[in-house]
Amino acid sequence: MSNLIILGAQWGDEGKGKLVDLLADRFDYVVRYQGGHNAGHTILIGERKFVLRLIPSGILHPGKTAVIGNGLVIDPLALLEEIGQLNAAGVDVAGQLRISNRAQILLPTHRIVEKISEARQGRVPIGTTSRGIGPGYEDKAGRRGLRIADLIDREYFPEVATALMEDHLTRARAFGVEDLVDIPAVIAQYQEAAEKIRPMVCDTARVLNEAMSNGHNLLFEGAQGIMLDLDHGTYPFVTSSSSSAGGACTGTGVPPTKIDGIIGISKAYITRVGGGPFPSEALDARGDMIRNRGQEFGSVTGRPRRCGWFDVPLIRYASVVNGLDSMVVTKIDVLDELAEIPVCVAYKIDGVETTEMPSTYRELAKVVPVYENFAGWQSSTKGISDWAKLPEAAQRYVDALERLSGVEAGCISTGPERNETIQRPNTRFAELTR
Ligand code: GDP
Ligand code: IMO
Ligand code: MG
Repeated sequence: MSNLIILGAQWGDEGKGKLVDLLADRFDYVVRYQGGHNAGHTILIGERKFVLRLIPSGILHPGKTAVIGNGLVIDPLALLEEIGQLNAAGVDVAGQLRISNRAQILLPTHRIVEKISEARQGRVPIGTTSRGIGPGYEDKAGRRGLRIADLIDREYFPEVATALMEDHLTRARAFGVEDLVDIPAVIAQYQEAAEKIRPMVCDTARVLNEAMSNGHNLLFEGAQGIMLDLDHGTYPFVTSSSSSAGGACTGTGVPPTKIDGIIGISKAYITRVGGGPFPSEALDARGDMIRNRGQEFGSVTGRPRRCGWFDVPLIRYASVVNGLDSMVVTKIDVLDELAEIPVCVAYKIDGVETTEMPSTYRELAKVVPVYENFAGWQSSTKGISDWAKLPEAAQRYVDALERLSGVEAGCISTGPERNETIQRPNTRFAELTR
């Protein structure tokens, strides 16, 4: 067994929740390391659907410990709501969840600050989830943020939180955003929330390192995807945290020497929510078909996801900056009806062909995708769990993605349920998830 990172290899919503849920039984701890309730990880178990935002998907496995690491920004009220939903579904959240005392907290005024850039004329909107994620991480980097340890400090919290919220409101007013907030009411609400989560708060870096010393295995659950990573993504159309593999270490206090493998999740096509360049976007009827068949609507905001074709330069880049050991190709069933499937195999920028990822969104916006067409299979792959049963054209499609990307396709997902998965033997994937 090993310590494994599962992360999004595209722009998010690749099916990380499903994969983490599938593999969670083989690990002792499932750990989130970045992001906040901008994430929406959907898990379908029979008729029951769970959309987890902050709490790692491993919580749905009795006896497993779910850990929220120091790298997250936590809205305590959103967390309580999620805990309430899980408790109502019979999950022993108090017994299974541990929350880092070093994680940052989000205040309602972070959402107000976000309006300065997102809702103001003359600014390029990123198309964020409006959860205050960016301003929360800004405060962290600006060394004025508040952490869970501050929230549960009954004496310290009211004064520092009041000052920070007043600063936020002053800044917002200067930019013409006049929203009002009842600061004492927020403090009271947050202190009530603090008492509810207090028993689950601890030094999670210590918990995780002790767990490893005792022979336990960790599964790290990425949120967002590599192209939304603050450093490596399509800046500035990114989120404000490190969704790449490196984030798993800084966001948990688990050293890089303890990581045994990194698995990237990628759809058999690609989607993006929010603004920013998207070279292989399908703006025609086939894009609509993917959206409808794939139910590509944001699990947090309900926004229609932009849909397009598998992007090889993007996956190659994801593989380089994350050191992917294996790739999981999800939602192949969504392509079942197509006679022909385009794959973006290279970019053309100002007439020059490249497979490199440009560093600016302006160059990426200029990309003319170079497509290679693959034969579709026009039969159902839904629920297939054996490679040999996949239609030959689907096998050829996956083989092509593997060959073009230079990363093995160790697992293929053919539906949202746990058993709708092909786990290929004799792969690095099989080795890492044994
Ligand atoms: P995440 O953010 O990466 O966890 O992904 P989301 O949950 O936001 O979006 C993925 C969606 O696709 C969810 O609704 C899943 O239930 C669904 N899903 C995952 N894998 C498959 C698959 O192989 N086929 C189909 N049809 N749906 C899938
Ligand atoms: P999961 O974990 C898809 C996108 C937003 C926006 C940009 C910045 O479910 O894959 P933010 O609110 O984070 O400041 O928004 O990032 N975004 C996501 N897109 N899946 C997600 O999470 C996302 N989390 C943020 O749409 O473009
Ligand atoms: Mg999602």
